[in-house]
Amino acid sequence: GHRLLLENARQAVLVSARGERFLAGDAARELAVLQDASLVVGADGFIKAIGSADAIQKQFSGETFEERIDCSGKCILPGLVDAHTHPVWAGERVHEFAMKLAGASYMDIHQAGGGINFTVERTRQASEEELFCSLQQRLQCMLRAGTTLVECKSGYGLSLKEELKMLRVIERARRELPVGISATYCGAHSVPRGKTALEAADDIINNHLPTLEELGRRGEMHIDNIDVFCEEGVFDLDCTRRILQGGKEMGLQINFHGDELHPMKAAELGAELGARAVSHLEEVSDTGITAMAKAGCSAVLLPTTAYMLRLKQPRARKMLEEGVIVALGSDFNPNAHCFAMPMVMHLACVNLRMSMPEALAAATINAAYALGKSHTHGSLEVGKQGDFIIVNASRWEHLIYQFGCHHELIEYVIVKGKVI
Ligand code: NIG
Ligand code: FE
Repeated sequence: GHRLLLENARQAVLVSARGERFLAGDAARELAVLQDASLVVGADGFIKAIGSADAIQKQFSGETFEERIDCSGKCILPGLVDAHTHPVWAGERVHEFAMKLAGASYMDIHQAGGGINFTVERTRQASEEELFCSLQQRLQCMLRAGTTLVECKSGYGLSLKEELKMLRVIERARRELPVGISATYCGAHSVPRGKTALEAADDIINNHLPTLEELGRRGEMHIDNIDVFCEEGVFDLDCTRRILQGGKEMGLQINFHGDELHPMKAAELGAELGARAVSHLEEVSDTGITAMAKAGCSAVLLPTTAYMLRLKQPRARKMLEEGVIVALGSDFNPNAHCFAMPMVMHLACVNLRMSMPEALAAATINAAYALGKSHTHGSLEVGKQGDFIIVNASRWEHLIYQFGCHHELIEYVIVKGKVI
């Protein structure tokens, strides 16, 4: 028998239908959509068939399914992919929201010992169990808002011991929770107190990375990506290059914060190093954009950050016109407290001037590409993992049009063919 039958959906948004690993330029302007569709997930949790309701009914008549869902009047979409989050931390920073509303900038707060450093202190004090419990709750919120694959960064530990604590929490989540996780080592998220950026970079290269490599070799911890906060007053371009290079040599995918508050030539560096992705890019240069397009280095845009901090919006239109692979992330962290990719897509459309198809491609296939997982995730295609959302609306665009109360609209979240 088969695992799951989704029958008679008003629309099934395939996103890509011809095995594309990403959608850029004109290809992102229109998505593949089937009307009156059904979909079958095999016992292994992967998509077995997708097609018109009539064709699927004929093809599978007399066969058995563990579960069937009548999708009449509803839409099936791929599970959403969140390409950038910082979900492991303790200590609320709601007081900083008040400071920002009163006019303080992100760097004002950072330099006064708030921001990342505040969260580092609280996270160091928290036990592994506490961190796991809050991570679990946060991932559950994300799942309910439709995210089935999420990138999770460390980066509030900074010392080797404390980074390992965070990474173990992420590893446990990866093994125990239903949501898919792409794990990112972000030990260079901030310069720890009492060290210079240069000393911190040396410590990472000489001590952190070899330890992570050893844990990986022993199968104790799986890490996918390496990240650095490349920013004035944090890690400069040279430190960033050395750290990312070290990560690349041990087989990690490069996916880092760049050109956010100041132009740093981070996009150019990403292209040079063969990065999978550079995030933020509010201050990216024109040559950086061209270099990223040429190198197939994706841009992970984070509309929540620009919205929250009232920054310049990243130039999504320019990137799309130049053929950059544009992905989206929530940037969930104590600064941008947003769990919901539908909200992120909404902001991407209104503030970044993306179209709804571009935003959905960015939050599915292109986000999966940014994580190196678009061969298994991010679209409805035979052979891909059975991760879906079922939206209670007759047109899929309601997922982006509506802002707020997403759990009312998203009736089912399904991972590997199982309803969550
Ligand atoms: O992506 N820019 C650096 N990192 C985070 C903020 C983290 C924090 O403020 O705790 C970001 O916005
Ligand atoms: Fe971030």
